[in-house]
This record gives sequence, structure tokens and C-alpha cells, in this order.
Amino acid sequence: MLKGKHLLEPTDLSLQELEDIFNLADSIIKNPKAYLDCCKGRLLATLFYEPSTRTRFSFEAAMLRLGGQVIGFSEPNSSSVSKGETISDTIRTIACYADIAVMRHPKEGAPRLASKYSNIPVINAGDGGHQHPTQTLTDLLTIRSLKQNISNHVIGICGDLKFGRTAHSLVKALSRYKSMTFIFISPPELKIPDYIIDEVKGHQLIQTSSLEEVIPQLDILYMTRIQRERFFNEEEYLRLKGYFVLDNKKLSLAKKDMIILHPLPRVDEIAKEVDTDKRAVYFKQARYGMYVRMALILKLLGDDTCVKN
Ligand code: NCD
Repeated sequence: MLKGKHLLEPTDLSLQELEDIFNLADSIIKNPKAYLDCCKGRLLATLFYEPSTRTRFSFEAAMLRLGGQVIGFSEPNSSSVSKGETISDTIRTIACYADIAVMRHPKEGAPRLASKYSNIPVINAGDGGHQHPTQTLTDLLTIRSLKQNISNHVIGICGDLKFGRTAHSLVKALSRYKSMTFIFISPPELKIPDYIIDEVKGHQLIQTSSLEEVIPQLDILYMTRIQRERFFNEEEYLRLKGYFVLDNKKLSLAKKDMIILHPLPRVDEIAKEVDTDKRAVYFKQARYGMYVRMALILKLLGDDTCVKN
């Protein structure tokens, strides 16, 4: 039973619970109108202490498409946070008004702290350079929908693997599936942290700083942006930005059925010319993100039985 649970890391969900969420997302995709009233009278709170486009809007769109409503802030300075209110007090107050809360915060662990004081489900929408579980649900649903299954793939994860929370969550989640090969492609300065490598047990693992070298092997290429806001030093960011650029020339080396994912926003790591290639599925991926969040909200609120499949 997912009802009432928090989602802080992707592994908070069992493989069966993930499968149930994806199956529900599939049903919503097939017949979205059937779910129009499932969250009538419910309220979702979005607490965004850090900027966002996709994650916040997709949660809001998800709730609205389920017939629920949304409150929240996208800018902590417009709330009592600017007066020095603690996370524990903010969440305890929000829990008096809303049925479910989504939190993004620049500090690692902030949503976990909030969950300890909350009697409504708290969803981590990205905590610093740590985890981003609902982006991972998006990524997994995209892979499952476009590649038929999640297991048995060679995945290249490219970019800022040190600070990129989407990469961390994705690796953690994928390491529970069978026969994966992980190829981590990053500048040496932005290598994936050891605590994430520790998750990749029993799978093949390669680390490299050359995208060209490994692109022919990949079934999935997961591009990420260099995370400017996490650098301590602007010079270092400027030196590393532009390290990887996926363009048509590099793409010509890849398999014809490889898919390119990106959590977005993109800066310059994927050239615009790539967008028209059928392997570029990152905007489709954003749409899957909304459907999987609809399914997640329904499950955590226990409203998933409102439509009999
Ligand atoms: C990602 C994030 O916020 O971590 N964006 C998103 O949620 N889709 C990736 C990023 O900001 O680079």
C-alpha cells in the first residue's frame, strides 16, 4: 500500500510498487478523461525553495488534470521562509491545509527532515546535489514505454555526475533491474560519487571522459547539464561548461534505435540540430513526467481506485 507514504529516494518504492505506478500511468495515458475527477476536493502544496520549470509545472498540471487544486510558492522569499521560519514549522503548517506536499530544496536532506514532521505525504522534488526520485520515475517510464522494458540495457550517463541529482537517483533505481551496463561519462572533476558507485553491484560499469568513444555501444544516452549553481567557483564552472556537446556528428556514431534522454533544462550539451532526430525523446520524456506524477499522486493519496480498470 502506497497510501500515506513519503517519497524521498527512488528506492523508497519497491519494484512492484514502481510497476503498479507505471501500469497506472499507462492507463491514464490511454484514457486521461477517466481520471478527471479522481482528486476532486484534494489539495497539493508545492514548496519550491529552488527554481524549477518542469517539476513544479508537471506536478501542478498533474494535480489539475486529476481535478484537484494546488497551493504553494515557487520563490521562498514570497513566504514566511524569508522571516526565518524553519522547515519543520512550514511543513507542519502546510499539512494543516493540504493533502500532499512536494518539496524542492537546495539543501540535501531537507525533504527528509520535512517528512519527519509531516502527517501528509512529502515528495522530494530534488534536494541539492542528492536525489530527485520523481525525475527517475519519469526516466523509467520513458525507457519502459520506448524500449519495451527497463532491464538489459547499456546506458550512458553523461555530464555532471558529481552534482547531478537526476543521475544519482537514476543509477540507484536502475541498479535494481537485471543485466544493466552503466557507462559513466564525465570530466574527471565531475565523476560520479563513490557512494553512488557502491549502489551498482553486480552490473558492468565503465567510467570514461569520452562520449565519442562509447556512444556506439549505447541503447540509452542520458545527457545532463553542468550544474552551475552547485559550483563553489565560477571559473571552474566556465572551464567545464561545454565539455560535452552532443551534435549530429557524434550522433552519427550511435545505434539507430538508441534513445536520448535529458531531464532538462538543457544549456549547450545537446545541439539544437539534434532535436529533429527521432532518437531525441527528451520532450516526450517531459510529457511522461506529468503522467507518472498523476499516477504517483493517486497512489500516495489512495485515490487510485477511483477508476475501475
Ligand atoms: C533537473 C533538476 O532539477 O535536478 N531538472 C528537472 O527537474 N527536470 C536537472 C537540472 O536542473 O539540470
